[in-house]
Amino acid sequence: MTEVLDINVRKIKSSRLQDLNIDELPFGKYFTDHMLVADYADGEWQHVEIIPYQPLTIEPSNSALHYGQSIFEGIKAYRDHHGDAYIFRPYENFKRFNLSAQRMCMPEVPEEIFIEGMRKLIEIDKEWIPQKKDHALYIRPFMFATDGALGVKPSDTYKFLIILCPVGPFHAAPMKIAVEEKYTRAAPGGVGFSKNAGNYGGSMYPAMKAQKEGYDQVLWTDAFEHKWLQEVGMMNIGFIINGTFVTPMLEDTILKGVTRDSVLTILKDMGISTEERKINIDEIVEDYKKGQINEVFGMGTAAVISPVKELKYKDVVMKFDPSTFTIAAKVKQTLYEIRTGISADTHDWMLKV
Ligand code: COI
Repeated sequence: MTEVLDINVRKIKSSRLQDLNIDELPFGKYFTDHMLVADYADGEWQHVEIIPYQPLTIEPSNSALHYGQSIFEGIKAYRDHHGDAYIFRPYENFKRFNLSAQRMCMPEVPEEIFIEGMRKLIEIDKEWIPQKKDHALYIRPFMFATDGALGVKPSDTYKFLIILCPVGPFHAAPMKIAVEEKYTRAAPGGVGFSKNAGNYGGSMYPAMKAQKEGYDQVLWTDAFEHKWLQEVGMMNIGFIINGTFVTPMLEDTILKGVTRDSVLTILKDMGISTEERKINIDEIVEDYKKGQINEVFGMGTAAVISPVKELKYKDVVMKFDPSTFTIAAKVKQTLYEIRTGISADTHDWMLKV
């Protein structure tokens, strides 16, 4: 049972919603009227409140800025045709958030703050959920250390926040991806499975180099041979090979994607065989040359299902035609129908706000 939490609410005087242009929604740029803030001190969470979206004040010696104790999640909310708001699988993100917290020596956030706080916040800013195809309200829960001290040790104090932004499609156009041969995102025993800020900071330089060569993202490979596939910059990766869905198995170098898990479930419902296993890039090149790769796509909360039109490894450029990706399209449509209440939510994925 979830405890009933006393959340102080201070509402904005006048909503900014009328200034929002739904046809112009770059990812993560516009935020709703309110945010949730909670403080951790003296070994407990306190002062949980929903207040107008606003800047924070922190010490220049803030330990998250110096040593990186900072984690986040990405979740989406939708409205059905009655206008009711639903959050997609927030308990999965809640569990992953606390796994990240554990790995980064941060306190766990209780369900009554993470889930119930999120519900209450969305209820207040519900009108911001775009009711347009491929649009959603992106929910960003995050936590960071707030001690003002330069000692290299876990902070004693933290802030947990939830902010919300209406978003459109993340990668509207099919992606061009370069297989990474030099840089490493995660190694065994490291923090690759956690959603900590540093994983994203460390990925920017290789991504920027790939972008200069005309690619959207890199496909990360293992730290030793740069052969075994891990994940794409901001999403998991999957292939349809000879009609079977194949995706890298979960290891501590890979983020346990909620969309990845949803795709696996939907494919099983569709009767399509699925394999979670190690995938070597040489196998992909060989299968490509034999014409056996039918589809390639990324899976993520922000990205949903993002088709790949080009995959480059050394001097091999593998080209795909996303207009023929019938399985990816079917999965995307199924996800859309479940999220917007068109189809029955048979897996109990949607949490009513
Ligand atoms: C998400 O899909 O929620 C992500 O974490 C990607 C984000 C870093 C843009």
